[in-house]
Amino acid sequence: MVDLKAQYKKIKPEIDRAISDVINSTAFINGPVVKEFQAALENYLSVKHVIPCANGTDALQISMMALGLKAGDEVIAPSFTFIATAEVIALLGLTPVLVDVDPGTFNISPEAVIKAITPRTKAIVPVHLFGQNADMDAIMNIAKQHNLFVIEDACQSIGADYLNADNVWKKSGTIGHIGCTSFFPSKNLGSYGDGGAIFTNDDELAVKLHSIVNHGMTVRYYHDNIGVNSRLDSIQAAVLKVKLQHLDEYAHARQQVAAAYDKAFRGHAELIVPAHNTRSTHVFHQYTLQAVDIDRNKLQQFLATKDIPAMIYYPVPIHLQKAYLDPRYKAGDFPVTEQLCQSVISLPMHTEMDAEQLNHITSAVLEYLEGARK
Ligand SMILES: Cc1ncc(COP(=O)(O)O)c(C=O)c1O
Repeated sequence: MVDLKAQYKKIKPEIDRAISDVINSTAFINGPVVKEFQAALENYLSVKHVIPCANGTDALQISMMALGLKAGDEVIAPSFTFIATAEVIALLGLTPVLVDVDPGTFNISPEAVIKAITPRTKAIVPVHLFGQNADMDAIMNIAKQHNLFVIEDACQSIGADYLNADNVWKKSGTIGHIGCTSFFPSKNLGSYGDGGAIFTNDDELAVKLHSIVNHGMTVRYYHDNIGVNSRLDSIQAAVLKVKLQHLDEYAHARQQVAAAYDKAFRGHAELIVPAHNTRSTHVFHQYTLQAVDIDRNKLQQFLATKDIPAMIYYPVPIHLQKAYLDPRYKAGDFPVTEQLCQSVISLPMHTEMDAEQLNHITSAVLEYLEGARK
């Protein structure tokens, strides 16, 4: 699905130097490069505070801890997402309240959020799925009206822009009270191991977040908060500092691939190409088609015979996952999500795709459609 080796080869001297500098300094944890990367990311995002941490899942968990959410508090999240979004809610003893998504953009439905609000609701977690921002103006308005926190799950959308109601472009993850991202290697800004970060413009919250990621300390060995051990290590920060300089160029490369896929598949009744939210750019963490009246799994198998990986993100909605079964929910409750889980298929998407690879993939998909029509 990705070609991290080809990407590495292009920036090898910069990356190798950055890693070797950390090894020579032996400042493996909390080395100066972590602060340097933090500052570079704050600048890129135009956000006051970036709090680096160990992964995107921790970023979400730490955010909920910092907001003081307590057992029994309800947190609204989409049922069509990666498990981490709901996992941390459950792990903290909060109550995940799942809602359906928009059939075009795959993102949380503001109408569904409104219907799910109760007196116990404390927060909303919009997930900017596959690299495109959710309808943040609507979400922020709902949050304001009901006095709720908004934690953006921007794990797949770093670098995407959102044009808000005041006609100001904002970076994904900097619109809500807190934003979270992941630097998992295959992410748009991927490290060479695990990594994550939290964003906020709130000074007080930032102090708390910095403390929680480091055992709840503000002064060494004085623990003001119950915290966790969730640090971004220096080698990952060094890699990310280099790769951040290429992030926009990577997004552009992904957008070119998406445009080529759109061109090849648009107009074929068996496939729905990804819809665009007109107020958001799309950084295509994934390029995800919906299959209509064709067997999506057979298409995946056909592509595999031609050495083309295709993935199903996600085959099972959260409310039907074994560990998350809950008498509040049953099959049929979230028809859009359930339909998407049956029909989506994501094609290879990366920064190093060449014309030959693209042609191989699009021809194979079209060949399958031809065969299926017979
Ligand atoms: C939507 C979403 N949320 C959360 C995460 C968790 O990030 P991580 O794998 O870094 O813990 C991911 C990434 O896998 C994700 O895609």
